Amino acid sequence: MSDPHAPTKLWSGRFNEPTDAFVEAFTASVEFDRRLYKYDIQGSIAHATMLATQGIITDTERAAIVQGLEQIAVRIERGDFTWSVALEDVHMNLESALTEAIGSAGKKLHTGRSRNDQVATDIRLWLRDEINLIIAAVQRLQLALIDLAEQEAETILPGFTHLQTAQPVTFGHHMMAWFEMLERDRQRFVDCSKRVNIMPLGAAALAGTTYPIDRELTANLLGFDRPSENSLDSVSDRDFAIEFSAAASILMMHLSRFSEELIIWSSAQFGFIELSDSFCTGSSIMPQKKNPDVPELIRGKTGRIFGHLIGLLTLMKSQPLAYNKDNQEDKEPLFDTVDNLKGCLKVFADMIPAVSCRRGTMREAALQGFATATDLADYLVRGGLAFRDAHEVVGRAVAYGVKQGRDLSQMTLDELQGFSDRIQEDVFTVLTLEGSVAARDHIGGTAPKQVRTAIRRARAHLQGA
Ligand code: ARG
Repeated sequence: MSDPHAPTKLWSGRFNEPTDAFVEAFTASVEFDRRLYKYDIQGSIAHATMLATQGIITDTERAAIVQGLEQIAVRIERGDFTWSVALEDVHMNLESALTEAIGSAGKKLHTGRSRNDQVATDIRLWLRDEINLIIAAVQRLQLALIDLAEQEAETILPGFTHLQTAQPVTFGHHMMAWFEMLERDRQRFVDCSKRVNIMPLGAAALAGTTYPIDRELTANLLGFDRPSENSLDSVSDRDFAIEFSAAASILMMHLSRFSEELIIWSSAQFGFIELSDSFCTGSSIMPQKKNPDVPELIRGKTGRIFGHLIGLLTLMKSQPLAYNKDNQEDKEPLFDTVDNLKGCLKVFADMIPAVSCRRGTMREAALQGFATATDLADYLVRGGLAFRDAHEVVGRAVAYGVKQGRDLSQMTLDELQGFSDRIQEDVFTVLTLEGSVAARDHIGGTAPKQVRTAIRRARAHLQGA
């Protein structure tokens, strides 16, 4: 972005000395905010249309502005546009190019607006589109999880608390737990979008404008739900950016949890799943290695997304009304959040079908660690024992099993009856893994039947979304 023939600044009137070269580069945002050009043009076209409708500019001027801006968009897309740091930001680069292209009509575009309401409008237009893409990407990942859950509805693995074997669960149930987290994420973005889709344009610099503008019209043209209420708040509010970052952070926190499980499960020690080669990388020194780089990187990227949330909160902390140049710092964290979030969602959805379950290994693991101990206690309760007493009886049986190196289901009826005479031949049906999961047969339970019902509900829900 070298600048041999520095263009005239749009605010040079009251200045006698040129801007210090370093200050110029230091205060410029065009290197990153040029990314908003499409939205800046969209906003300008709507603004010019409103100005013409209100008789503030003529229809001929409006037509020239619209055509000029559309041509600039084409030039930018072709790579045939010179961005200038001396013109500071995307807004002044575009306005200056417009005046150069169409002459004096271009100078009327900025009537009744300010870069302060303009930039707030641009970010909202941009973020609205990005949120829609993110919602669709979350949905795609949800569908991938549902497919895997359906395929593995009967697959049994140990469920953990404290990462210690707790009770057997089905893999499908586990996948549907992830689905639920994502469903809340999706709702959070839908909700956040409602507050993004409010139009600040018309607030001008901070106090509104003296021209007879029609903010309802501009809002309609841009697809906003309504114009914002208060001009001071309109130009300075970045709550929507913080809310978005918070929703993004919670989503990343979820992805980091899924990633962590995939990493643990694919280790030699667990061996519950295998990630296909296309989602792993090797080691340059250890020939045997197949590393789960994709989930590890997602887990790692979670840190920067959390960082952006804290960055934005701190950016806004203690800012007096109304617009302050500080706000220029909102864009890079938002851009980085969006880019990484979309990347993580895409690669995660691509990776889920590449997960293959080692059903035998999961089953083996579920058979260790006395996963059906609670089932035995429940059995004794059904036989008339109080739960606390049943807990005690089973605790003794487990201690015996630990010493013997045998699971409850591997003991003889005689041995089991040694702990309680209420135990009968039918005890073995509750001590099996299949019996254990099938018995948790209620809404939200791990029984394969319930998992299938949950999957049906989830599919119907997503179709209606
Ligand atoms: N580049 C600025 C930003 O990103 C645009 C608004 C500048 N307004 C101003 N009065 N300096 O926030």
